[in-house]
Amino acid sequence: MFNPFMLVPCLICLYDILSMIIPLRFSWMVKILLALLILSGPAKMLLLRMTPSGFTMPEMTRNIALILSAMFSFMITAAILLIIKDASMILWRIFLRAKFPAHYASLTVLIIAAMSTVYGVWQGTRVPDVIRHDVKISGLGKNLDGLKVAMLVDIHVGSVNRREFVEEIVDRTNALSPDVILIPGDFVDGHVKDRKFDLEPLTQLRSKFGVYAVTGNHEYYYDLHGWLETLSGFGIKFLHNEHTVISSGDSHIVIAGVPDPTGGNHDTPRALEDSPENVPVILMDHQPRFARENSKLGVAFQVSGHTHGGQIPVVYQITRRFNGGFVRGWYDIGGMKLYVSPGTSQWDGFPMRLFDPSEISLFILHAE
Ligand SMILES: [Fe+2]
Repeated sequence: MFNPFMLVPCLICLYDILSMIIPLRFSWMVKILLALLILSGPAKMLLLRMTPSGFTMPEMTRNIALILSAMFSFMITAAILLIIKDASMILWRIFLRAKFPAHYASLTVLIIAAMSTVYGVWQGTRVPDVIRHDVKISGLGKNLDGLKVAMLVDIHVGSVNRREFVEEIVDRTNALSPDVILIPGDFVDGHVKDRKFDLEPLTQLRSKFGVYAVTGNHEYYYDLHGWLETLSGFGIKFLHNEHTVISSGDSHIVIAGVPDPTGGNHDTPRALEDSPENVPVILMDHQPRFARENSKLGVAFQVSGHTHGGQIPVVYQITRRFNGGFVRGWYDIGGMKLYVSPGTSQWDGFPMRLFDPSEISLFILHAE
């Protein structure tokens, strides 16, 4: 049956074969082998559709999933480079009126794409470093000066990131002795029965004031209610259009959260209803694109993820277009601080990163 979901990867694969493989001066046997390797990119997507769980690969071993995901990443990277090569070829023919060295250009693309993919998949799948951010918060009381807020986001437990990965990020987070831990969404790609075991180490997260979370869009692609129940059972408190107040002596800070808009009930004003006056607010909102609206509601500091920092150049620009201009790092929006994390990991369908390392964020809050 025709599936539009498959059409784009198939077209990209066809472009790779026509523009990169065919012009190579290799034997047809080598060309067919290279074409088959590239075909494993869309083949993976087809395999995904055939598994009972659809979008994930719980039935595959990690290594097979990783190799197929790497081939998919190679296919995308090669296509981006081929667009540059083909634009150069057109300019070459127009301005130099000479024969374009197609074999060497295609070979260069193949080598750069392969090397970028190997490095990028290593970068995308390694356990992230802790990155410290010092944040000045206006109105923060002196008893909360120095509050340590750790953030994990876009963990995307799936066929590539499994229990060992979660254990590692939990250990690194606990080693920070955080006061608060925030997890603003995209915990998982998969169903509770397949992935509960992998996410279980989250039960070991330790902090003085608790672990708070909101949903990301990926939670809605599976068993949302099953996941909310499971993760709540792990000791994670979901703040969906609600807030909590953290206090130390006479110093207070509000931690608020909104669910991802995929569920249709994203409501920041409701999350802040009845919050104490003159107390700074930290807001968890999985997607950063509502930051301008949130900034008008008295939020001091918004934390988001979702974009994965763009993962690779070119995709960064596309990501920016769909996320209100916010992709990675710090933004000042009318006095509200927005931090868009590159994510603790990313969706395992495209597990590569170039110039965009993932991170465990540690915010140290300071009174301003
Ligand atoms: Fe997301």
